[in-house]
Amino acid sequence: MNAPENFSPFSLSAWSAQQLGRIELALSGWVACPQASPAPAGLVEAMRYAVLDGGKRLRPLLVLAACEAVHGDAQVALRPACAVELIHAYSLVHDDMPCMDNDVLRRGKPTVHVQFGEAQALLAGDALQALAFELLTPEDGAMVPATQAHLCRLLAQASGFQGMAGGQAIDLASVGLPLTSAQLHEMHRLKTGALLQASVMMGAACGTASPAALNALRDYGAAIGLAFQVVDDVLDVTADAATLGKTAGKDAAQDKPTFVSLMGLDASQAYAQQLLAQALASLAASGLKNTHALQALADMLVNRHH
Ligand code: IPE
Ligand code: IPE
Ligand code: MG
Ligand code: MG
Ligand code: MG
Repeated sequence: MNAPENFSPFSLSAWSAQQLGRIELALSGWVACPQASPAPAGLVEAMRYAVLDGGKRLRPLLVLAACEAVHGDAQVALRPACAVELIHAYSLVHDDMPCMDNDVLRRGKPTVHVQFGEAQALLAGDALQALAFELLTPEDGAMVPATQAHLCRLLAQASGFQGMAGGQAIDLASVGLPLTSAQLHEMHRLKTGALLQASVMMGAACGTASPAALNALRDYGAAIGLAFQVVDDVLDVTADAATLGKTAGKDAAQDKPTFVSLMGLDASQAYAQQLLAQALASLAASGLKNTHALQALADMLVNRHH
């Protein structure tokens, strides 16, 4: 059967290219010194190094895709999209430091502490975190105060002890320990899942959705958030540093509990596919129509090679 004349299938690459252009421009503008204000001792240079020129930008893309699904304001959504990427970039800078994973390669470049020193890396991470919340609180009326507060709360919860930082604490405390499946799920939910789920919910906060649709988006976010870290664990074993842009094989070398160490490679890959199916089922149950980008991103983040 021929497709109707005006039928145009969704193209993730075309959609992403357009959104990535907006994201990169906005990030480069925001992670910069205001004109006439002096850069403090190279700190902004380290921040720009951490954020620009690399990264898949999955979290910002999820924010923008969720905003589309609820027919939200794409211009407003650019702020939470960039804010979550700043938190993510800060988490990577600190994750790579010698006191954590002690990594020398990130996004195909030397890590921030290798390039700029440990103290500057610590400060760059701190400053990126602060800048994220500055982006969410514009003074020019671009965002109503209730939306600002809601976005700050979502991002703060997903970043702090109930989210990324808490998960990282569990990760470091678990080196060499055989975690149970429930403990590993909890660690991954916090250290990685929370920020990905928050990306979806922040995009949804830029528009209007029924409580049922919001619940479905929350379920979608939880499933892809977990799947994302399962795939990260798999790629650490199956991919090489040139493809990943970061050191491969380091989880086993550092004796980190991962899904691969818990259930093996094949079962981990199958589990990621199961989580993808769950995520897509949640979207289908959401009652939302404009979910093409969310569907395609879920598929991409589970079936990615880097
Ligand atoms: C890597 O995240 C760190 C984890 C949370 C597993 P990404 O794979 O999204 O890293 P970038 O942003 O593309 O570099
Ligand atoms: C890091 O997890 C998650 C963060 C919160 C940064 P990993 O330590 O597995 O991330 P990679 O593999 O170094 O990117
Ligand atoms: Mg780590
Ligand atoms: Mg790491
Ligand atoms: Mg990893």
